[in-house]
Amino acid sequence: MLEKNKCYEIEIIDLGDNGEGIGKVDDFTVFVHGGIPGDKVTAKIIKVKKQYAIGIVDSIVEGSNMRQVPTCPYTKCGGCQTQMIDYNSQLELKKKQVEDAMKRIGGLDVEVEDVLGMEEPICYRNKSQYPVRMVDGRIQVGFYKQRTHDVVDIDQCMVQHPLVNKVMKSLKNHLKNLDIKIYNEEKHRGILRHIVTRISFKTKDMMLIFVTNSKEEQVVLKDLSIELSKEFPEIKSFIQNINTSKGNRVMGYDNITLLGDDKITDYIEDLSFEISPLSFLQVNPSQTEVLYNKALEYAEISKDDEVFDIYCGIGTISLFLAKAAKRVTGVELIDVAIKDAKENAVNNQIDNTEFHADKAEVIIPDLYKKGYQADVIVVDPPRKGCEKEVLDTILKMAPKKVVYVSCKPSTLARDLKILSEKYSVEKVQPVDLFPFTTHVETIVALQRN
Ligand SMILES: C[S@@+](CC[C@H](N)C(=O)[O-])C[C@H]1O[C@@H](n2cnc3c(N)ncnc32)[C@H](O)[C@@H]1O
Repeated sequence: MLEKNKCYEIEIIDLGDNGEGIGKVDDFTVFVHGGIPGDKVTAKIIKVKKQYAIGIVDSIVEGSNMRQVPTCPYTKCGGCQTQMIDYNSQLELKKKQVEDAMKRIGGLDVEVEDVLGMEEPICYRNKSQYPVRMVDGRIQVGFYKQRTHDVVDIDQCMVQHPLVNKVMKSLKNHLKNLDIKIYNEEKHRGILRHIVTRISFKTKDMMLIFVTNSKEEQVVLKDLSIELSKEFPEIKSFIQNINTSKGNRVMGYDNITLLGDDKITDYIEDLSFEISPLSFLQVNPSQTEVLYNKALEYAEISKDDEVFDIYCGIGTISLFLAKAAKRVTGVELIDVAIKDAKENAVNNQIDNTEFHADKAEVIIPDLYKKGYQADVIVVDPPRKGCEKEVLDTILKMAPKKVVYVSCKPSTLARDLKILSEKYSVEKVQPVDLFPFTTHVETIVALQRN
């Protein structure tokens, strides 16, 4: 048994979901913070559980050849987890992550393509969420330290758009002189909790969202918005979002437009999308185009095809596929997203789509009972994967093609195993939407047997 506070020499053989190294001491698994595959380290054990232990690198005995000096100076920030791994090795590790899931969870013997990475994996995010806290009388605006809610104060973030960095720098200066109470998470008191930014990389239009713990301070925030709008005309929309909940949720459901428009417009290729404060949009615009073009390629849609886009969000994939199809039916849980999807179809003069707001596990079996059939089905579920009812109905409908877009290899592999009752996996293509993190997006083409 391993002893807490003792150091052990460990070879790191894998990377965990949160970017921690994984190694063994006498066959006992240890998750080592600060270790990466290929490292030989001494690690201090900080926790021992029944099945595994957790350690922290004490010293590196032999560094992995994947190691690089992080380009980002904020080593304590938990926003990115794999800054110390060179980009090509990050892509290799993501491929391995997908391969392992296919084999171990899916029981599938399939070839996984090389990950489609970015040419320049920096400044890629179109959305950022900065917690705001007061520490020892100083305002801290940045990102959470890994595994904590301590805020690491950040001046420049290399994965954000340069304009967002400029706006945040100026905003932080304004906040120092602003008469507004900063949120205290432990006491659930104070007003300003988070700053959220959204930006279109095509138009540079930006939305700035002040997340507050009540509806108070509208006048103060409106005055601040006026000041910022003079400095940054690119900010077209200033929103106050009200989140009175305790816990981890960043934004609430109520939005007040303080200044400018209540939405901004973004583009995916030539399609325009209206983005509200709560709209889901993939965070990496250039890689989203890579992903959606793969979806179009894998779906092999013809003009007679009825297509389903399940978990459609604001209809981005639906509209992308609509030009090739007879009709696309989109299904999504969130009412507002479906309202946006319908508006987006009208704004893009697309008239062969229909959208339904409900749980996919309810509406898909229901549409099937009503006689709906699909030739091609695209699913893009959240991390928990597809509900059993959705997979069962896909197997009953038996479209000729299924395209599965996933942000979590383990649930993807679990669902592919179920679909393999009637489908063969033709292509497994990981796409890197989140450089410097352990997250990987994967798109899979399935062909009915
Ligand atoms: C990964 S996002 C995909 C959105 C969209 N396809 C895109 O590329 O922007 C998953 C979507 O599934 C929706 N969702 C989550 N659970 C759902 C459910 N049970 N039924 C239908 N939609 C659901 C979420 O609201 C979210 O919009």
